[in-house]
Amino acid sequence: MKDLISVNQLELQDIEEIFGNARDYKNRYHSGETKFDDLRGKSVLLPFFESSTRTRTSFELAGKLLSADTINISGSSSSTTKGEILLDTIKTIEAMQSDFIVIRHYMSGAAHQVAKKVKSHVINAGDGANEHPSQALLDAFTILEHKEKFEGLKIAIVGDILHSRVARSDIKLFKKLGAEVTICGPLTMIPRYVDALNIDYFTTNVEEAIKDKDVVIFLRIQLERQSKVFFSTLNEYSIKYGLNQNRINLLKEDALIMHPGPVNRGVEMQSELVYGDRSLILDQVENGLFIRMGIYKFLMQNSE
Ligand code: CP
Repeated sequence: MKDLISVNQLELQDIEEIFGNARDYKNRYHSGETKFDDLRGKSVLLPFFESSTRTRTSFELAGKLLSADTINISGSSSSTTKGEILLDTIKTIEAMQSDFIVIRHYMSGAAHQVAKKVKSHVINAGDGANEHPSQALLDAFTILEHKEKFEGLKIAIVGDILHSRVARSDIKLFKKLGAEVTICGPLTMIPRYVDALNIDYFTTNVEEAIKDKDVVIFLRIQLERQSKVFFSTLNEYSIKYGLNQNRINLLKEDALIMHPGPVNRGVEMQSELVYGDRSLILDQVENGLFIRMGIYKFLMQNSE
């Protein structure tokens, strides 16, 4: 496997290998080992054509911890603003001897198109509303730190399913690992092709969606991808779908609360619940670092 573009590429043994790598790096890091040699002499280029805090920083830091040279390329200050097409930008980057290209782009399919044209390993760090495979891996890894096994878990994903690449990748990975997946949101934010998503059921009633679940994941409302109105006001959305104390009281005692971030505070979750006792949001962020180290190692080892 040269590239990681979609969860579709991953067999169960691949997922186990990435989790094993991440677990090993996390244990060693917490035992005081803070530099690893696995990517020494390699270069990681990070062209990001959309904003990011978690994904870009953790892929960069993961590369540095593995001793790679890392270079950020911001879409807004790249020569694409002068009319250069994406593939020319990527070919230019590769001519400077990249080993890994970690790309985020607003166009679905961008990472796939790039991967076909270059020899470097390409990692999809989010393409439009299509996929975000490393997020799904870190979400599943975080869940597994708190639950004995994935098989049979009941997971609800609540919010802007229509525009969410996280939802698409999460659903694919969670189903592959044997979970039962429910999606919930306003009908306007449930895709018309919902049958093709391979979920177990969908509902527009958030109380029904979350009450018997082992894990509830709230998604960001992606205002930047919305060219029309999908609900009346953010306040109305929050009242109908946001996590509040009353809804926490409906959850199973050991239910996990997650959000990929960034959070619109007071919309998807009441502000005081973001880092509350039940929230795994910062565990997701921390695990993102080790999962991304695990992905680099996995691609190096499985394409040589
Ligand atoms: N979850 C996620 O992709 O966050 P960033 O946009 O900050 O990378």
